[in-house]
Amino acid sequence: MSKPAVSFRTIKPKIKIAPSILGVDYGDLNHHLQQLEPFSDWFHVDVMDGNFVPNMSIGAMVVDKIKTTIPLDCHLMINYPEDYIEDFAKAGAYAITVHAEATKDLKLTIEKIHELGCKAGVSINPKTPVTKIEKVLSLVDLVLIMSVEPGFGGQKFMPEVLSKIEIIRKKYPELDISIDGGITHITAPLAREAGANVFVAGSYILKADNPKEAADKLREVVQ
Ligand code: DX5
Ligand code: ZN
Repeated sequence: MSKPAVSFRTIKPKIKIAPSILGVDYGDLNHHLQQLEPFSDWFHVDVMDGNFVPNMSIGAMVVDKIKTTIPLDCHLMINYPEDYIEDFAKAGAYAITVHAEATKDLKLTIEKIHELGCKAGVSINPKTPVTKIEKVLSLVDLVLIMSVEPGFGGQKFMPEVLSKIEIIRKKYPELDISIDGGITHITAPLAREAGANVFVAGSYILKADNPKEAADKLREVVQ
């Protein structure tokens, strides 16, 4: 895997470890989340519609039932997210992240998320260039760079997306930049060097024999 040319190890935004809850036992959701709380900065909530991505997960009604003090970053992998963001805001989302490829008017959608009192995030798929979101980068609180094709956990990290993180970090030293897909103790440091500060991890934490040890390890390698 190639290393980025510039190191952004000294970036200001706080490091955050965000377990992706796609792999939790939804039948016992709150109990399972309670076990993850001590080592989680955010919970990353994957919302899939079977349309924007070839898989379905949970919607706002389930998010509404989550009882936790950990901020929920809802990653909406759905078409026309603007039609649903109010539901997620009411369900208690801390941040709502929408895909640039999925919305009719990205700027309006971001404004609507802010009006509803949530942090606004924008995400791009591995093949989508930064130019697609450059006009909204000064408006958002969070950028989520997909390092796998969205839709499923357990896929292989795509190092070719690292240069997108570098481009954004050079211009926005304070922005939360999140990396999502295939994050492990091997791939997270590469994203960290490129400038990411929020590390979403599904399988690496949830499928580990000891999720706390896995999360601690992740935190250690990106410090
Ligand atoms: C993929 C989701 C990810 C996924 C990450 O579409 O957006 O958040 O849960 O899972 P891992 O870490 O297993 O790649
Ligand atoms: Zn996600």
